[in-house]
Amino acid sequence: MKKSFLTVCLALTAIVMFIAGPTGVMAGKLSGQLEIFSWWAGDEGPALQALIDLYKQQNPGVKLINATVTGGSGVNAKAVLKTRMLGGEPPDSFQVHAGQELIGTWVKADRMEDLTFLFKKQGWMDAFPKGLVKLISTDKGIWSVPVNIHRSNVLWYIPANMDKWGIKVPATWDDFFAIAPKLKEKGIVPLVLGQNWTANHLWESVAVAAMGADNWDALWAGKLPFDSLEGIKAWKLFGRVLEYTNNDASSLSWQQATDMVIDGKAAFNIMGDWAAGYMSTTKKLVPAKGFGWTASPGTNGEFIFLADSFGLPKNVKNRDNAIAWLSLLGSQEGSDAFNPLKGSISARTDSDLSKYNDYSKAAAADFGKNRIVGSLTHGVAANEGFMNDFASVMEMFLKSRNAEAAAKATQQIGIKNNIAK
Ligand code: GAL
Repeated sequence: MKKSFLTVCLALTAIVMFIAGPTGVMAGKLSGQLEIFSWWAGDEGPALQALIDLYKQQNPGVKLINATVTGGSGVNAKAVLKTRMLGGEPPDSFQVHAGQELIGTWVKADRMEDLTFLFKKQGWMDAFPKGLVKLISTDKGIWSVPVNIHRSNVLWYIPANMDKWGIKVPATWDDFFAIAPKLKEKGIVPLVLGQNWTANHLWESVAVAAMGADNWDALWAGKLPFDSLEGIKAWKLFGRVLEYTNNDASSLSWQQATDMVIDGKAAFNIMGDWAAGYMSTTKKLVPAKGFGWTASPGTNGEFIFLADSFGLPKNVKNRDNAIAWLSLLGSQEGSDAFNPLKGSISARTDSDLSKYNDYSKAAAADFGKNRIVGSLTHGVAANEGFMNDFASVMEMFLKSRNAEAAAKATQQIGIKNNIAK
């Protein structure tokens, strides 16, 4: 029996759709290259590598180039990315923080592709929390695919050292100030700090503790001036905290600062929970036994969050391969391969928690019940212009320790970068 031309066409279309999957990209049939760009190099690499391995399994014909520029929180990578983007040499997909780092920079400059089509095809409109999708969207589109949720306000320590030194983990900054001098006398750094950006990182934890979550949100909504009493209070508390940090901060990476805690040279470190990834994946410490954590002093019940994501720049060389990459990142499989190694939790609401360690399970529980606020240092709260200027304010404060002057300068850069009024 002769099949009609229409029947044949329909059958062929069905076969193509089956192979292509919901993204419309021919998974397994792709070839050529894919260049991804991030700052997850060296110690920060294992979680990314898990994704790369999956991608290679799914797309054996694609040569994946893993371009990384080392340096915590993307301090160096972001500068390289800027040169490439402005020079018309975008990587096929790059790491960017959800929030203002994405929207206020690359979306504003009209350099990104709208990914709404992919979100719809993959059913992601319901897979990610609505608040997170809002953070990566404008009224013109959805601009990246989130891979995780990290927590910024975590205090790390080694349980055995607490016993050895006879101290309790501080729940407030007053608790900390009560034990810090004793630690100092023993030659132990009470709170270890690393290079430049880690001071900003510490500042946000201290500021949220000093002013509370409502005021923190009000700052970024332009409703509370940075040089208000609350703003000054944050800088003053930060100045007091700095008295108990190490002198060689500027020469330490965040991993080296964490090592100081592991090695018993420092009591505490405030760092994002990539430190949990580092301590469990790289250092093989067992959560709650080998290393301990709690919310940074004065922030119990508050979760300063950030999310890493990847976007699709306009005019990339390997668009189909990049879409396959993004499809993997947003999938449950990809997310649950990446996050247990990274120390972060999945950005999806349906992740399989049995794959995660005790730290991540606790973080997931907190994320579900805490008050969520956005990180400044990791791209949620403010645009890059503000962040660059804030680095100078921080440098000035580290030298002068003048809280009023720092608060005033922050207000000025807030106005300049369209945040404060
Ligand atoms: C953050 C990033 C994390 C981690 C950290 C340290 O900005 O979101 O995934 O890489 O920097 O480099």
